[in-house]
Amino acid sequence: MDKLVIEGGKPLYGEVSISGAKNAALPLLAATMLCPGQHILRNVPDLRDTRTIIKLLESFGSECRRIARGVWQIELTDITNFEAAYDLVKTMRASVLVLGPLLARFGVARVSLPGGCAIGARPIDFHLQALQKMGAELILREGYVEAKCHGRLSGADICFDIPSVTGTENILMAAALARGVTVIKNAAREPEIGNLIDMLRAMGADIKGRGTDILSVNGVAELQPADTKIIPDRIETGTYLIAVGAAGGEIIIKDCNPAHLPALLEKMRAAGLVIEEGKNTLKVCGSRPLNSIDIKTMPYPGFPTDLQAQVMALMTLTDGLSVINETIFENRFMHVAELRRMGANIKVDGRSAIVKGCGGLTGARVMATDLRASASLVVAGLAARGVTEISRIYHLERGYDNLAGKLTALGAVIRQVKE
Ligand code: UD1
Repeated sequence: MDKLVIEGGKPLYGEVSISGAKNAALPLLAATMLCPGQHILRNVPDLRDTRTIIKLLESFGSECRRIARGVWQIELTDITNFEAAYDLVKTMRASVLVLGPLLARFGVARVSLPGGCAIGARPIDFHLQALQKMGAELILREGYVEAKCHGRLSGADICFDIPSVTGTENILMAAALARGVTVIKNAAREPEIGNLIDMLRAMGADIKGRGTDILSVNGVAELQPADTKIIPDRIETGTYLIAVGAAGGEIIIKDCNPAHLPALLEKMRAAGLVIEEGKNTLKVCGSRPLNSIDIKTMPYPGFPTDLQAQVMALMTLTDGLSVINETIFENRFMHVAELRRMGANIKVDGRSAIVKGCGGLTGARVMATDLRASASLVVAGLAARGVTEISRIYHLERGYDNLAGKLTALGAVIRQVKE
């Protein structure tokens, strides 16, 4: 297993280019199963999670070929297996995204239930209830959901209790091939869903309401393959932006979409970062002192839960008090104990964390617990005095394309070494 060793206190300068969004690549890769023929996906990030879903697609019989850097040609002519096995699903919950396409096109699927994960219970009951409403018969057996439908799924009226990102994506894909109209109310509005809708429309799907919380899908009998580009990763973008706030310096973030980060940009300006927005670039200047800010995570366009841990690391560097409220996941403060090892003063009370800025952190040996918690330790390590060693970095490899390489190019002193 590898670890990251960071010598902190070096400001960041230069340019960094953002990769395709993990959370868009996963549903778009799953959507290739909806019809025969060759799909092209561009700007696919090279991540552990994208490799996992490609392995999953191959286990169903998809032919997946990387034809250039970031460009994949994918085709599922004949299905050879209907089961998404536990070994793959347990490493990546988003594997559940194959359920909607399998049921819609083939009328049968067996998908392992994802179980708990480091950041909370994260059930998939919304996905299952919606598919049942669309006519799927579901049985939960031996840790798997076994699903089938006779003929096509039927359109239905669905209202999510909470806007679920992968829930919305799964039902959009299922509804694209259903008989009749499906309406999804309280749908999630994340930009990655817009990217999926654009791909499904290019495939011939009839979807209204893009960008709103009411989506209406008029199912069609067949779809065609499409050529689609994955949007830039807004969480990777946000992580570099916060990193320059923590380490100081001035960077240009290229190939990003600032319009996808409204809440973060407002909060980071309030924290004292100087940010200039271009259409696909951000120029960010970080210096001390930093102001403390409060954040509350919310579904898009609110503050993303996937950037909560990184902002918490930044807030330890102020001289004030910051209240961080996590409303999406019940157990997403795993990074707190590790940040405390670096000198942070953080109290957790239920879903709130109160960060008393300590002006600076010191390097320590810490452990990555989940993807975004690991990113917060990198942010902390870049700002800390001395050396920080982060173990279990396979979590980071799930979601950050070449993190150590990109940070090194910005002047960070960071090495990936075998433990
Ligand atoms: C997606 C993102 C993840 C991000 C999260 C919230 C992907 C691959 N992952 O995860 O990075 O942190 O959105 O922005 O896109 N819920 C239920 N029942 C369900 C589904 C969800 O109770 O069937 C709850 C969850 O426990 C959570 C909330 O709804 O409290 C939102 O979760 P959801 O949007 O579904 O998260 P994911 O799609 O798993």
